[in-house]
Amino acid sequence: MSKRTDRPLRLGVNIDHVATLRNARGGRDPDPARAAMLAQQAGADGITLHLREDRRHIRDADVPAVMAAVTLPINLEMAATAEMQAIALKYKPHAVCIVPERREERTTEGGLDVIADVERLRQYIAPLRAAGSRVSLFIAPDEAQVEAAARVGAQVVELHVGAYCDFCTDGQDAECDRELRRLFSAAARAQELGLEVHAGHGLNFSNVGPIAAIPEVVELNIGHFLIGEAVFIGLDAALREMRRQMALARM
Ligand code: PXP
Repeated sequence: MSKRTDRPLRLGVNIDHVATLRNARGGRDPDPARAAMLAQQAGADGITLHLREDRRHIRDADVPAVMAAVTLPINLEMAATAEMQAIALKYKPHAVCIVPERREERTTEGGLDVIADVERLRQYIAPLRAAGSRVSLFIAPDEAQVEAAARVGAQVVELHVGAYCDFCTDGQDAECDRELRRLFSAAARAQELGLEVHAGHGLNFSNVGPIAAIPEVVELNIGHFLIGEAVFIGLDAALREMRRQMALARM
């Protein structure tokens, strides 16, 4: 688990929760497109937004507005529904990350069960790839799910680090360690199969280090903590500190 890596690690900034704040009052402020611009100025490598079926944060009009506001690659997170596929085919974002979605959940609670849905996902992904988007699947750090992701034609897997974050925050050291090992093996298996490896969900200044140190991981997508921290220290400072922690771990 202590392999060194010189591969650069990108930071994708998820701006969903700027929209959460805006929607709490209605109206236009704070504007997710402005957050995307500020994230770009602060050195983000990409902007992520999740258009949920219930539109609880990002709304349809935010997608073109955010895309117009920045030159960075856009990663559109979405459920594998016909409606979302039509939206992705309309805007052709740099990347599409397919996530499981349930209306009652507060956030994306688990990974996609690719194994249970191989044929449908294969057919779902093909037109997205044909339109030029890189297709990523958000999965638990499970080698069998990684192998299924390769079978359905995904180019990227984003490993769900939520369980790692929960165990490690709660001081459950054995579970935290086990989860990290699963992340290391899933990342290694993904790379063997030619998949690019990303990670995200629940990362903050204290827990990002061990994930940033996984050599195969080339992108982290981080949202809730960064937007929350921006309330106290500003988005620019929050991003710069996150990058600093990522770089330290990578050395
Ligand atoms: N990656 C994916 C696929 C997600 O669904 C989310 C949450 O929307 C994130 C990353 C970011 O998680 P967080 O907001 O906890 O940093």
